[in-house]
Amino acid sequence: MTENAVKPSVNPPLWLLAELTYRCPLQCPYCSNPLDFAAQEQELTTEQWIEVFRQARAMGSVQLGFSGGEPLVRKDLPELIAAARDLGFYTNLITSGIGLTEKKLQTFADAGLDHIQISFQASDETLNAALAGNPKAFQQKLAMAKAVKALGYPMVLNFVLHRHNIDQIDRIIELAIQLEADDVELATCQFYGWAQLNREGLLPTREQIADAEQVVQRYREKMADSGNLANLLFVTPDYYEERPKGCMGGWGAIFLSVTPEGMALPCHSARQLPVKFPSVLEHSLEHIWYESFGFNRYRGYDWMPEPCRSCPEKEQDYGGCRCQAFMLTGDASNADPVCSKSAHHGTILAAREAANQTQIGIDQLRFRNRANSQLIFKGQ
Ligand code: FES
Repeated sequence: MTENAVKPSVNPPLWLLAELTYRCPLQCPYCSNPLDFAAQEQELTTEQWIEVFRQARAMGSVQLGFSGGEPLVRKDLPELIAAARDLGFYTNLITSGIGLTEKKLQTFADAGLDHIQISFQASDETLNAALAGNPKAFQQKLAMAKAVKALGYPMVLNFVLHRHNIDQIDRIIELAIQLEADDVELATCQFYGWAQLNREGLLPTREQIADAEQVVQRYREKMADSGNLANLLFVTPDYYEERPKGCMGGWGAIFLSVTPEGMALPCHSARQLPVKFPSVLEHSLEHIWYESFGFNRYRGYDWMPEPCRSCPEKEQDYGGCRCQAFMLTGDASNADPVCSKSAHHGTILAAREAANQTQIGIDQLRFRNRANSQLIFKGQ
């Protein structure tokens, strides 16, 4: 494909996600990192990351997220933040809060960090510890949420919901209010990576989701009455939808993710696809975004088979999520099985049914840690 053929119809990547590392002190069983992350130990150097930022910014990227793993384990994080800020990015740190200190927060503020999102596993210490695999995590998160607020950052708290904590959603919202969060993301598990591996033990039932929706609505009304402006965003799993989500706003449309070792991806889950994705160590971001096979593979509509090809909704949902189509049908070109028009929609119906039957407890989930990752890498 020539540069002239592609560039006019492709906008630059507005959103750059820097997955700085796969190292993480927690072991959440719904982590979106790849199952075989332990097989990948290389990380880009400080200079290599800054070069990626520089190229992305020159192309027109405006927002840069630092994530992982746990990005705080990178000792050069203040340097990376400062470089990104100097380039003019709006910067966002996505963290568990483990490893954070008031001193580090001040350093990040001095470096120009714009925004911090802290994730919680639950509203109480015991369940948080069981899910995170770390008994001290909850108190640390509370302390750091207060410190973030004290520094004047917009405070975003993220709670990942699943069948083991969604019934506590009232207590989760109470905790967020108590911590004076400005934005609260109540995000039900999306089934990628470790969450997909543990799906049967994590997918809430339809009734659990409906109950949680009512609670969220009650709190929204209560907060509007009291003048409390905390914004509650409730994200439900697409497993209970009949039409798929327009994943990533379209393949290679606005989002570019770079893995710890420098692989460029159109979404955080794409490395599992049987598609060769380019490395930022071998190609310029400009080439990767506009010219590479991986980023062009599912752009536009020509690649679509039926039922998407003739579907009037394809311009809203782009056929759904390529990674979900691959995971559930074995072919990333297929319609996302969430769609009731998909010949594979039965996989979604079966998952809903399994959610009603399952007795899988937290202790039976496969936790995201090096030992489990190595076993999976060896096919066990
Ligand atoms: Fe990869 Fe949806 S997560 S396309």
